[in-house]
Amino acid sequence: MPEDPNLLLGSEDWADAGIYRLSDTIALVESVDFFTPIVDDPYDFGKIAVANSLSDIYAVGGKPLLALNIVCFPVKTMDKMILKEILRGGLDKLKEAGVIILGGHSVEDSEIKYGVAVTGIVHPEKFVTNRGAKRGDLLVLTKPIGTGILSTALKGKKLDKETARYLIDTMESLNKKASELMMEVGANGCTDITGFGLLGHCLEMARASKVTIRLFTDKIPILPKVYDFASMGIIPGGGRRNLNYCEKLVEVGNTDAITLDILVDPQTSGGLLISLPEEKAEVLIEKLKETGNTYSTVVGEVLEESSGKIILI
Ligand code: CO
Repeated sequence: MPEDPNLLLGSEDWADAGIYRLSDTIALVESVDFFTPIVDDPYDFGKIAVANSLSDIYAVGGKPLLALNIVCFPVKTMDKMILKEILRGGLDKLKEAGVIILGGHSVEDSEIKYGVAVTGIVHPEKFVTNRGAKRGDLLVLTKPIGTGILSTALKGKKLDKETARYLIDTMESLNKKASELMMEVGANGCTDITGFGLLGHCLEMARASKVTIRLFTDKIPILPKVYDFASMGIIPGGGRRNLNYCEKLVEVGNTDAITLDILVDPQTSGGLLISLPEEKAEVLIEKLKETGNTYSTVVGEVLEESSGKIILI
């Protein structure tokens, strides 16, 4: 099939969103995601699902404009109020993001699933991908990790109320501001941290950018009690799969097994991992702090060109 020159970012490995040029100044950005509930409150679930779906648009520096609901729901056996609450949460989050909902589609299913398909725009020459990390860059992470481990604890009714609120607030928060500031300051590369964990997405950035990345394991922001739960073996199944997948291309050094479990913990609605020169990294973190994002910090650096690997220190 002939390549369309307007297809700027396609279905190649681990791209966050698809990008298609419409004109010299506007390109479409498309992404879709939906999943089963990870928290008990349907309203919170709706908000998390939307924040998560929008994240891929923010990861490329795009501005989301329109969304379509995707809903699976057991209409015959479950209270429809639950569905209403999910959609209300989703709508509130879309409003916060300034995104218009156009409608959507629902199917009857034994299991609840919810998310949105999102259309956004970005300048065809200014979007950011995981291919752009450059030697000498620093890596800034904008949200703490550990949502998979805490969600597993929550499911097992082991999580206290305060930590659960922390977890939900983190997953609900939009990557909007981080994305806008990244574009304002200027970044070389970016990806959002989701199902493959910090290590998986970082490795993919290293491979796509053809560089070696060093991660500072003691600098990585982690949600409260994550280490404790990971020590008790309360980790989601996906984490171990991520570890098996990355292992060969990661030099773990002295990193302990529990920290490794946290590094590969699958994230829902995780933060942005932004690659940019040192001076810009400082400015970005400063600006993020001003907006109330206190977690953003430098978690790694980009070393020499290579076929893509990670060194943990
Ligand atoms: Co993504």
